[in-house]
Amino acid sequence: MSRYLITSALPYINGVKHLGNLAGSMLPADVCARYLRRRGRDVLYICATDDHGTPAELAALAAGKSVAGYCREQHEIQARMGERFHLSYDIFGRSSSVQNSELTQHFADRLIANGFIEDRVTQQIYSPVDQRFLPDRYVVGTCPHCGFERARGDQCENCTRVLEPTQLVKPRSAVSGSADLEARDTHNLFLQLGKLADQLREWIDSHDDWPLLTTSIARKWLNEGLRERSITRDLAWGIPVNRDGYEGKVFYVWFDAPIEYIGATKEWADMDPGGGRDWKSWWFDAKDVKHIQFMAKDNIPFHTIMWPGTIMATEEPWKLADFIKGYSWLTYYGGKFSTSQGRGIFMDTALELLPADYWRWYLLANAPETDDVDFTWDGFALCVNKELAGTFGNFVNRTLKLNEKLFGTEPGVSTVSDGGVLGDVETRLAMELDARIATYNRNFEEIQFRKAAAELYLIWQAGNGYIQERAPWKLIKESPADAAMVMRTSINLIRIFATLAEPFIPETSARVLAAVQVGADENHWFDENTPMLAELARLAPGRELHTPDVLFPRVGEEMVAECVERFSGIHAQNPSA
Ligand code: 2FM
Ligand code: ZN
Repeated sequence: MSRYLITSALPYINGVKHLGNLAGSMLPADVCARYLRRRGRDVLYICATDDHGTPAELAALAAGKSVAGYCREQHEIQARMGERFHLSYDIFGRSSSVQNSELTQHFADRLIANGFIEDRVTQQIYSPVDQRFLPDRYVVGTCPHCGFERARGDQCENCTRVLEPTQLVKPRSAVSGSADLEARDTHNLFLQLGKLADQLREWIDSHDDWPLLTTSIARKWLNEGLRERSITRDLAWGIPVNRDGYEGKVFYVWFDAPIEYIGATKEWADMDPGGGRDWKSWWFDAKDVKHIQFMAKDNIPFHTIMWPGTIMATEEPWKLADFIKGYSWLTYYGGKFSTSQGRGIFMDTALELLPADYWRWYLLANAPETDDVDFTWDGFALCVNKELAGTFGNFVNRTLKLNEKLFGTEPGVSTVSDGGVLGDVETRLAMELDARIATYNRNFEEIQFRKAAAELYLIWQAGNGYIQERAPWKLIKESPADAAMVMRTSINLIRIFATLAEPFIPETSARVLAAVQVGADENHWFDENTPMLAELARLAPGRELHTPDVLFPRVGEEMVAECVERFSGIHAQNPSA
């Protein structure tokens, strides 16, 4: 049987992530891991912070902290945020770890030894005042095309033209503002990706089950021709290049970040020495491992070209992805979520407003799987009020309240009652569940979580339809035994619904299972071989039930109006980023 290695794109260290980051990588990876674990598969879910790069360095500078100290702090914050969103990583590592540093040196050594690296001289802007080379985007000046005064050295935000820093009029440093800049010669290591183009194309062509979004972006890059890419930079923060003549240089953030998928696995193993965690067996010559990657679409070129190209150039059997799931953008009122402008909703503020399950459900049920999806507060409220509050929450609360009324023992407590036998209506219901659960499982296997959420909603609806049709509140007068059977069936539905909901809304799922006293031993998943008719009668008479508080209080119009105002981006939500 396969083992499953799940990775989520590694979030940049600087600042709490926004809901767009969550929706496009960490959250779907979590759902995937949770589902596969429930199916009894051996799963390793890896994530980490992407610690290097100039934004981290500048954020530390702005905060008046050492970069290492700043990263340590931010890692802690992001790790805690992940826990609060119930992201079930096996490890949340750091790309600045010793493990990653060692692996990065190893990868670079192999690339050099195999002749895929060229040392090349280029001109870079140097700032004597800052005493450093400036990455292109940290040189700002006037755009030679449109006259925009705050154009960046890599691109003008106003006219979108791609620029070289040397083209800017009145260039200055974005770090200090100094206009005393000079172009200096420097040399760096370049990966000759062109040499790998055929091998990469063959690899991509061999995966005809990948989403179109993934393959179309990969092929576009291949068709445009792969040019050499510099894998080192003249910077202080990063993994140092341990070679003579490369003092003061570090590896490019995008070189060491994907290596951290492996580095974090090693961190995971090192955390439990003697625990039998064999990190290498997951990555090296790992023929029994199925590796699934999750990411937003801007990361696709790195994961379909640069990273597999790097692996191929090692000429060692490191694990390549078996499936690459890319996501389009979640937008906020038609525009981008923006960390730098504080536009949209960030993970910390989201949790101040509502519990994690509201967000998890909305973001997964509306995942930007094919096209961009626009977040609006009205759309959010409509979704969670209808699907969580109105359907799942309503079914659970109304059923347990009614059971309390009909068969209650004391306030908030009732029991599963005895009497009656399953009839035609229940047989039909079971058949519907058999079919829908088969679809639900297939959606997961095909990594189509938005479709899975839609199916789960239909499953929940079947419960409301059932109790409405059987109307036990009326039946109790004509046939108490039948009413007892209908209530018992409905309570079994609660358990079925909560179990199935676990990958999406784990906190509520656990709460509901606790209310019907289903412990780990009874909490099994439903698959093709589970006849649902038997499951409708599994929780037997006599079991004690506790009515929970309303599971999902509705998001009211007032809250919507307040949030529209509060999160418009005029007020920065995330000053640390
Ligand atoms: O785009 C990003 O947020 C990057 N930090 C993703 C890195 S993914 C991986 F390769 F590490
Ligand atoms: Zn311009």
